[in-house]
Amino acid sequence: MTMKLLRGRLLSFKRAPQSLSDQESYSYETDGGLLIEGGKIIAAGSYADVKAKAPDDAEEIDHSPHLIMPGFIDTHLHFPQMQVIASYAANLLEWLNTYTFPEECRFVETAHAQKIATHFYDELIRHGTTTAVAYCSVHKTSADAFFAEAMKRGMCMVGGKVMMDRNAPQGLLDTPEMGYDETRAVIAEWHGKGRNHVAITPRFAITSTPAQMEAAAALAREFPDLHIQTHLSENHDEIKYTCELYPEAIDYTDIYARYGLLGKKTLFGHCIHLSDREADAMSEAGSIAVHCPTSNLFLGSGLFPLKALSRREKPVRIGVATDIGGGSSYSMLRTMDEAYKIQQLLGERLNPLDSYYHMTLGNAEALSLSDSIGTLETGTDADIVVLNAAATPAMALKMDVVKTLVEELFLLQTMGDDRSIVETYVAGNAMKAAL
Ligand code: GUN
Ligand code: ZN
Repeated sequence: MTMKLLRGRLLSFKRAPQSLSDQESYSYETDGGLLIEGGKIIAAGSYADVKAKAPDDAEEIDHSPHLIMPGFIDTHLHFPQMQVIASYAANLLEWLNTYTFPEECRFVETAHAQKIATHFYDELIRHGTTTAVAYCSVHKTSADAFFAEAMKRGMCMVGGKVMMDRNAPQGLLDTPEMGYDETRAVIAEWHGKGRNHVAITPRFAITSTPAQMEAAAALAREFPDLHIQTHLSENHDEIKYTCELYPEAIDYTDIYARYGLLGKKTLFGHCIHLSDREADAMSEAGSIAVHCPTSNLFLGSGLFPLKALSRREKPVRIGVATDIGGGSSYSMLRTMDEAYKIQQLLGERLNPLDSYYHMTLGNAEALSLSDSIGTLETGTDADIVVLNAAATPAMALKMDVVKTLVEELFLLQTMGDDRSIVETYVAGNAMKAAL
């Protein structure tokens, strides 16, 4: 197999940046080279050094002057909600009942799930996202379609069949036993196949009976290495209703804790309105609060205190995500632009280095997958995005006056979208050009 040699400006984070001037937190090569073989990065550094290591027959692709970064990671979205985007609802619960639950019922049909899976991966690739963590629908067929398509494309994906056995239409309900058995079947068929990871996925406490939460707890005990994903503290009415359904729990977070679902591999979507006690519990458990800014604004759910949660004495680990279809864009650039604006409204600063750290290494760390994705380190998977900060006339005009890397990143985040994604490589294969 021939090797690939990519040339361009390389940017990859080593750790969370402490400030805008924290140059130790990332590596930046203005004329960089990446050598790729068998889906992995086998050398990275200055173009001259990497070129010297490359065989004569390596296929050379010159992306200069564009930026080459690790592919974006999206840590929370809903695969069956592609056609829910832009649904006009007053709040979360109305949106779920009026639009989202009826739409997810359609995923009982294999052909529909397969059709949407094709569009789903096309959109991720178009937007530079190479790994995503997705909720499928309650139907096993949806998880089958989701993982089969990921394998076809060679993508590293995390996903789960949703468990839900109450407070939704009949066509969207399993039972505690079905939820358990079908999740086990999905694990047996898909976990570890290709680059697939199966997540245990009780939708949220409102749609799971205590018996189903016990089933999720049993799965978490049997498969302690698996990711767990659910929703937490998104909307005031949701929180009130949830606490009424589980009166024995101290608060919303305590419900999940009582079923052993609070751990290092648990991803909690939203976490907007956590109390100090809940934030402490999340921090002690090492669980992840996943910020979904476009969704939080679209549904009017609230302003996520990203900065306040990260600088607590007991910091909460953070992920960032689109939350399609409550979220309104597949783009992680658009996502971080909205995250920035939310912090502005809270009187906080989210600096551009922080944003790009979160989209790449930060989210890889949130998934405990930073050994293989989220950086351009040698030995990791060659999941890569190529970015053009002058992709539109208005961006090009602004680029004329941009002087620093940080200014360029901020421009890309503020004005960029799928038009800024020049190419998306998955395990070393150029995928966007092939769409
Ligand atoms: N809470 C439970 N299900 C959902 C969902 O599909 N989207 C959002 N935003 N919140 C949820
Ligand atoms: Zn969600």
